[in-house]
Amino acid sequence: MDLQGKRVVIFGGKTGLLGQSLTKALTSTGAKVYPLSSKDCDLLEPVEVEKLLNRRDPDLIINAVAYTAVDLAEDEEEAAFALNATAPQLLAAEAIRRGIPFVHYSTDFVFKGDSETPYTVYDETGAFSVYGISKAEGERNLLALGYEKTLIIRISWLFGPGKINFVEKILSLAEERDTLSVVDDQTGSPSYAPDVATNTVKLLEHDATGIYHLANSGDTTWYGLASAAVALTNIDCDVQPVPSSAYPTKATRPRYSVLDLGRFTQATGETPRHWKEALEEYVKKELKK
Ligand SMILES: NC(=O)c1ccc[n+]([C@@H]2O[C@H](COP(=O)([O-])OP(=O)(O)OC[C@H]3O[C@@H](n4cnc5c(N)ncnc54)[C@H](OP(=O)(O)O)[C@@H]3O)[C@@H](O)[C@H]2O)c1
Repeated sequence: MDLQGKRVVIFGGKTGLLGQSLTKALTSTGAKVYPLSSKDCDLLEPVEVEKLLNRRDPDLIINAVAYTAVDLAEDEEEAAFALNATAPQLLAAEAIRRGIPFVHYSTDFVFKGDSETPYTVYDETGAFSVYGISKAEGERNLLALGYEKTLIIRISWLFGPGKINFVEKILSLAEERDTLSVVDDQTGSPSYAPDVATNTVKLLEHDATGIYHLANSGDTTWYGLASAAVALTNIDCDVQPVPSSAYPTKATRPRYSVLDLGRFTQATGETPRHWKEALEEYVKKELKK
């Protein structure tokens, strides 16, 4: 798809962590982008959604909206399912009616996390948190529609500009404390939002459809990510590894949820840069630490 001049509606594009990077990346292709927040259009209000889309008449719909409060979702199952499982179908139905492509994001939390090797797009899902189950149901609902212009992109451990995230939180805590304890028994793939956004553009330019995994290359633990971020700065803070049991959370996280990026490389001929390189750009150029 040539994005130049295309009308692109991005749900979540105005205020979301990923959405804001998508807005930037899509705008730089020459597309006419309409970024939205929940105030502009509530995805839980189908009439509002239809009116908005009729007014904007898009050539492409991107859904970067989700119920992302992983622990709160354990108590707010209905709200999580409404946004993560039901709303994507509504957007896909609008895309089908218009015959235009639809991009939707999902998560590494759809996996059980008991693997020893990176999860491929062909691996079975097995989510156990409400958030993960609701996102997996969102994927299934889209696949059940059988619409060939649907692109589902699973990402993981997102960080980047525009909204508070793990890396920014760690650095501000490190500035206040002498030591920090960070979980070292969950392994995943950090994803820099601007890289996910530019790589999404690459998938669109290659007319990719179906399920893809997108993250930065390499993997680490939360401790690995936190200590690498602090090491890029002059902050004097001792980062210590601890087991998940030191920080009990309402929702259990996958122990291992590294994403295999092979299908992205097959489609585009490119390999996403390593997370350490992306982290350095974020910490030094964006956060200016
Ligand atoms: N963050 C991660 O670490 C991570 C990891 C893996 C996958 N993902 C996936 O990546 C995608 C983007 O996540 P994110 O972290 O960028 O999300 P986010 O920062 O939490 O942003 C969510 C966006 O959804 C909008 N929104 C919430 N409720 C809405 C509603 N009822 N109607 C319309 N818009 C609504 C929000 O708008 P307001 O600001 O107006 O509320 C915001 O723009 C999601 O599919 C998520 O599951 C994220």
